[in-house]
Amino acid sequence: MDKNYVGFLRLGVNIDHVATVRNARGGIHPDPVDAAVLAIEAGADGITAHLREDRRHIRDADIPRLKETITKPLNFEMAATDEMLAIAIETKPNAACLVPEKREEVTTEGGLDVAGHLDRIRDIAAALKENDIRVSLFIEADQKQLDAAATIGADIIELHTGRYCDHTGASRQDELTRIQNAAQIGHDLGLECHAGHGLGFDTVGDIAAIPELVELNIGHFLIGASVLMGLKPAVSEMRRLMDQARKI
Ligand code: PXP
Repeated sequence: MDKNYVGFLRLGVNIDHVATVRNARGGIHPDPVDAAVLAIEAGADGITAHLREDRRHIRDADIPRLKETITKPLNFEMAATDEMLAIAIETKPNAACLVPEKREEVTTEGGLDVAGHLDRIRDIAAALKENDIRVSLFIEADQKQLDAAATIGADIIELHTGRYCDHTGASRQDELTRIQNAAQIGHDLGLECHAGHGLGFDTVGDIAAIPELVELNIGHFLIGASVLMGLKPAVSEMRRLMDQARKI
């Protein structure tokens, strides 16, 4: 491997929106499990799926099928509820990523308030860890949340990049600095650092260049791009841009 390479950055492909298209007609096509297999063939290092409380995209039956079929780690995104905890324990994904969830939101709009719900999240995290499931917390790039994640013994933090992607100009640069600093702090706290949300071909480079990050999770853009260019070329292009950004 190139000696100027800062370390391999895994690509987790989120296949939720394949299920969104499927559910638009209520049938079985397109199958998110088929999409997961194709994404892995194209270079995905893991698959992410979010079983939402309202089952708007991924359905209960998708989760065991994904677990049985895919040859790369499954990252199970879940709200911090007893119902989702039971499904996670039954499924035994490689990791469970705790996310905030509001029924009326279009997507996961902000990070999890770990600091504000320390006892609840500590309990869920402990139950996941007892079942050999790695615990990931989807948080804003904020010192208070990073400290809380370390306090409850999380394995991983996933930094929310949504605001970075939504902003432009100087405020995007401010967001980037915030994420860069948080990745460094998270790494120093002994947390494995991931990032994701809203990333596309035009925004992935600066995030992928953050040396402390070891995984990006990308969904909506890739599934959208796959309509225009095919899923495998879309995943391959994302992989190429990530690798390019890791060269220093
Ligand atoms: N990471 C987390 C924790 C998420 O909740 C989502 C959205 O489901 C993503 C990454 C992927 O975001 P996007 O679909 O915007 O790429």
